[in-house]
This record gives sequence, C-alpha cells and structure tokens, in this order.
Amino acid sequence: MEKETLLKFENVSFSYEDEKTDRSFAVKDISFSVYKGEFLAILGHNGSGKSTIAKLSNAIYLPTSGKVTVDGMDTSVPDNEIPIRKKVGVVFQNPDNQIVASIVEEDVAFGPENLAVPPKEIRMRVDDALKAVDMYDRRFSETHRLSGGQKQRVAIAGIIAMRPSCIVLDEPTAMLDPKGRADVMKTITALNKELGISIILITHFMEEAVAADRVMVVNNARIRAMGTPREVFSQREMLKECGLELPDAAKLCDVLKEKGFALRSDILTEEEFIDEIVKMSVKQRSEI
Ligand SMILES: Nc1ncnc2c1ncn2[C@@H]1O[C@H](COP(=O)(O)OP(=O)(O)O)[C@@H](O)[C@H]1O
Ligand SMILES: [Mg+2]
Repeated sequence: MEKETLLKFENVSFSYEDEKTDRSFAVKDISFSVYKGEFLAILGHNGSGKSTIAKLSNAIYLPTSGKVTVDGMDTSVPDNEIPIRKKVGVVFQNPDNQIVASIVEEDVAFGPENLAVPPKEIRMRVDDALKAVDMYDRRFSETHRLSGGQKQRVAIAGIIAMRPSCIVLDEPTAMLDPKGRADVMKTITALNKELGISIILITHFMEEAVAADRVMVVNNARIRAMGTPREVFSQREMLKECGLELPDAAKLCDVLKEKGFALRSDILTEEEFIDEIVKMSVKQRSEI
C-alpha cells in the first residue's frame, strides 16, 4: 500500500537570530516526511534542534527558508494556520505550563472551545479524550492535585479533543517518575495503534524510541540518521558521535559480547535480550 504523507519538511532552515550566519541556524536544510498513522521518534542531544522542529511542525514557527506542509497545506500561508493547528497538536515537556483550567474536564474542553466547536460536540469529545488517556474517572478533579504523569495525560487529552491527525510530543516524559513515564508511553502507543494518530515523539529515553516505526537522529541542526530502530541503533559510531546512548538491553549485550558471549548483535529490548539468553542456555545444555 502506498504510504500517504501527512507532514513534510522540505529543505527547512530556521534561525532565531536576525543576522543569519551559518552557526545561527537552529535547524539547517532538513527534509523528511511523516506518514499517516506513523510513529516517528526524534533523538538528539541538547541544543540539536528538536524543539525547533516540533514548533515548525504546526506553524508555531515559520521556516526562515524551505517549506513545511501539513496534508499539503503550507504552514507559512496565514489562512492555513487554524486548519493546521487542528491537524497537528504539540505537547510540551512541562505539564504545569500546559494546564490552563482548575478542573480536569474544563482543561480538556479549552482547546475545542477555542476552535469554536459546538458545546454538545465538545462534551462528547472531552469524554472520549479523557477515556483515551485513562483519566475519565478523574474528570472532576482539581488539576493541581494530579501527579506529573496524570497532568501530562490531561494535556494530551486536551490535544486529542481537537481530533488531530498527528500529535508531536516534545520530551513529554522528561519530568515524570517511572510510573508516570510508563503510563504516558502506554497512552501514546494506544493513540497510535488504536486510533491511527500519527505520533512524533521527541525523547531522551532510548527505550521509548525503540517503540517507534522509525527513528530520526538530529545533530547540530541537521538530520544525521533516519531508519527503523534496528537500522539506527546498529550505527554505534554515529550514535557515539551524536552523544547518544544505546537502549539498556543493547548496552548489556555489547558488554557480554566483549566478554566472549556469542549473542545476536541487534538486540534492542528486554524481551529480545531474555529470549536470546534463554536460547543460549538451552543450546548449552543440549551440548553437554
Ligand atoms: N528562543 C530561542 N532564542 C534563541 N535561540 C534559541 C531559542 N530556542 C532555542 N534556541 C537555540 O536553537 C538551538 C536549537 O535549540 P532547540 O530546538 O531547543 O534544541 P533541542 O530541543 O534539541 O534541545 C540551540 O542552539 C538553542 O540554543
Ligand atoms: Mg528541546
């Protein structure tokens, strides 16, 4: 089946400064596409341009040069701004900065209210969105009483209530504890797999990137690698140069291989690691 493009960056550069020297670019000549229903993870160390890419994806920023299109709509055309914001929602790192109302369901209603969605329709969308992030039971709770992970899920619900085709999440789990992180990741994966919403997840956690269909590595304002998690994580030298780690399971495998264990070299997840160890010990036993 032909993949349909949802978001497209074509030779996009962006500079925060008026004077455009080569070093002033936060994003430099990048081109990539995100397909409908795809889950793309973006990796890169601090200052590499990830948040700028997030903000370029729904017309919060406009390219200094090049073109960003959402479903064929150019982000730099003023009339496209509202339809683009409906299609692509952005969730940021700090949940406290994104909650605007004191009660959970009011907060989720805020986005669709701004889009002038009729009240009856808003009611329905808010309930659906809260169920999708597993926060429906807390709909009447005060937002300031929620944990970081719960707040982040409410922020995601606020975006879902706008019925987007794509959600961009800029390090949404960076400020959360392990339980909050796991809950937010579960929510993101379900939105992608069950509702078919395209996901762009910017993250520092390699384990989160492993869950994506494709991984993009940015370094010094440019795209350094793009491919499946297995393709990207097999490029050990490139990752090192970009200051990125390996997923824990892969790290552990590398250590064991150095010690002479004959393990597969493309292991990425804990499950794969355990399978491989089990296989190895079964083989050893049968050889005795
Ligand atoms: N508001 C801003 N004004 C000026 N420079 C900025 C601003 N935001 C980011 N930058 C610069 O742009 C570059 C890319 O930043 P950013 O997109 O935030 O990277 P990342 O999200 O990967 O950490 C960095 O050099 C950063 O210092
Ligand atoms: Mg950032």
